[in-house]
Amino acid sequence: MNDFSEKLIAWYRKNGRSLPWRETKDPYKIWVSETILQQTRVAQGYAYYLRFISRFPDVGALARAEEDEVMRLWQGLGYYSRARNLHAAAKDIVARGCFPVLPEEVKTLKGVGDYTAAAICSFAYGLPCAVVDGNVYRVLSRYFGLDEFVDTAAGKKTFASLADELIDKNRPAEYNQAIMDFGAMQCVPSSPDCSACIFSGSCAALQKGTVDVLPLKKHK
Ligand code: ADE
Repeated sequence: MNDFSEKLIAWYRKNGRSLPWRETKDPYKIWVSETILQQTRVAQGYAYYLRFISRFPDVGALARAEEDEVMRLWQGLGYYSRARNLHAAAKDIVARGCFPVLPEEVKTLKGVGDYTAAAICSFAYGLPCAVVDGNVYRVLSRYFGLDEFVDTAAGKKTFASLADELIDKNRPAEYNQAIMDFGAMQCVPSSPDCSACIFSGSCAALQKGTVDVLPLKKHK
């Protein structure tokens, strides 16, 4: 196991947030939570998640619902295509007979991209699929001092391969939750408190003084 992942998981065990979608391995609930969190912060998405799961506790309940009711529950969250896609995909899953398992199958659901598929497959099934989002770009680009653009095809590929190498194959779910929380709570976009960081002795960007400029974006 690499030093980065080991330290990250140790940090998470002490500092990670306790959140309702982390207490379950149900792929349906994880899918709903990750869909909400695609464009919504935890603080706002939390109550929506609880209401949604309480009204539609499983994929069958969502599939049977009227679209109007699904949209009403989403009211205020924005990006309404997320709710329409969830509803359409729920009907699709019911028609298929079960929730897909492999990332390639999970990605065939409407509204599910690489990130959400990796989250579902690692959290629900324990598969070693690394999540890669803005938090992950920031943490990895700083820790490894990577000056590749995160918004180009080549850059995305570099970060995705690095993330797949780093993920703890024995604890993929915990590793993914850990890097998300680390990016959201410690390695924040502006003015991170690097003096209080577990990686202050090993972060390449901190040594080079490039924390403020990473991750690099070609198109601002
Ligand atoms: N943002 C996206 N997915 C998340 C998760 N599982 N926990 C916290 N924040 C998230």
